[in-house]
Amino acid sequence: MKVYKTVKGLQAYLKPFRKKRKKIGFVPTLGALHEGHMSLIKLSKEKSDITVCSIFVNPTQFNETSDLEKYPRTYEADSALLIAEGCDVLFFPSAPQVYPKDIETEVKIDFGKLDKVMEGAFRPGHFDGVAQVVKRLLDIVNPHQLYMGQKDFQQVAIVSHMMTHFKLKTELVVCPIIREPHGLAMSSRNERLSKKKRQAAGVIYETLQWVHDQKSEMSVHDLEEEAIDRLRIPGFRPEYFQIIDGHSLRPINHITKKKYVVACIAVWVEDVRLIDNIILQGQA
Ligand code: PAJ
Repeated sequence: MKVYKTVKGLQAYLKPFRKKRKKIGFVPTLGALHEGHMSLIKLSKEKSDITVCSIFVNPTQFNETSDLEKYPRTYEADSALLIAEGCDVLFFPSAPQVYPKDIETEVKIDFGKLDKVMEGAFRPGHFDGVAQVVKRLLDIVNPHQLYMGQKDFQQVAIVSHMMTHFKLKTELVVCPIIREPHGLAMSSRNERLSKKKRQAAGVIYETLQWVHDQKSEMSVHDLEEEAIDRLRIPGFRPEYFQIIDGHSLRPINHITKKKYVVACIAVWVEDVRLIDNIILQGQA
């Protein structure tokens, strides 16, 4: 695997592939890689000719400096996983490479409701940072395909909106959620849970599945209330559970009337904030 720390180095390496019309697949990450990330690499290897992964702990998307400092940096383990998966290129830039002083990288677009609800309501400014870094990374890598996970459902909506706004030609490929054997969605944050609570957190996916199974039997309001009740257990603190229109992210009253419906949850387990979702109707 080639490793580049500079924009220049990466772009020079990709140039001949682009000339030969090879399809470049891109998987941006914050590092601390796990099987969820690897599924994106796998899909890119299948669909694209050359796979570029980036590891960059983007300071502009963290609300708390302490969160940014605490974010796990596991370069050795990450690069070993990427090599084992057959990733072609790792882009591992420093902050000045991503945000040089002479380039305006801020993305000032109106996301409407998309960045106001759910994660946006609890993490102000977070999605501006995500849009900024993804736009900048897309400008650098200029891939044919961008692979992102349904796990961060609202992030996908934001990135998709940003790509449409800038009329980017890159195709956004949304990849399914990879879970631990007991159902907990894989996340680097899971490492911070105690063994007991990590096991118990399987209840989050059980609840999402229960909502999926009951979606024709109960009203949206009752489903939301019951789901929250199911998660009011010792050590767990649900922050929101919302059934929304998957395109506009607006709350809905009737599932049957919509083409794309997603149930989204955020819950604190101990001092770890976990998010998850399930598609109730339609597809991404
Ligand atoms: P990060 O949390 O490292 O995630 C990188 C990509 O992996 C995202 O597209 C995310 O949705 C996907 N992913 C994470 N867990 C997954 C799982 N269990 N199953 C499938 N895919 C999963 O998301 C970010 O980084 C950052 O915000 C980033 C987009 C890189 C911008 O800085």
